[in-house]
Amino acid sequence: MTETEQKKMEALREYMHAVKDQPHSESNLIGVLHKVQQIYGYLPREVMDEAAEILEIPTAHIWGVATFYHYFNLEPIGKHVVSVCMGTACYVKGAQGVLDALKKELGVDIGGTTADKLFTLQEARCLGACGIAPVIMVDDKIYGELDTKKTIDIINRYRKADAAETEA
Ligand code: FES
Repeated sequence: MTETEQKKMEALREYMHAVKDQPHSESNLIGVLHKVQQIYGYLPREVMDEAAEILEIPTAHIWGVATFYHYFNLEPIGKHVVSVCMGTACYVKGAQGVLDALKKELGVDIGGTTADKLFTLQEARCLGACGIAPVIMVDDKIYGELDTKKTIDIINRYRKADAAETEA
């Protein structure tokens, strides 16, 4: 755990102790899950166990809430999340080819994370940019009018930027 993560975890522990006896425990629990995901990008099992202990809620209940809301990641995700739009407009403009190219290039299926932890591949339904279909979103940036080559070029740009960051 990094020093920053440690500090954030300490703050989170304090928060959990503070909200533990408050009413509306369900919304407090969701607040805790959000904070955990902000720190780690997903919900690590050992942190969930600690939350269960502090909040005095059965672990199974916490996992039940976490799996009900699709927003929460139960597994570690990559540094960049690549979402491929499979909505109708994108689909008719070749989204399947873009998705297949990404699966092949990254060596993962939908929901998978690359071995170097750089990318997680996801599927999306309409990213609100149908006019430039087919579309992918990397983190919060939209890329449109794609073909397989342009898509792989985008991935390579992220790889290069990451390599440059690591060297710096
Ligand atoms: S269907 Fe892909 S952006 Fe709308």
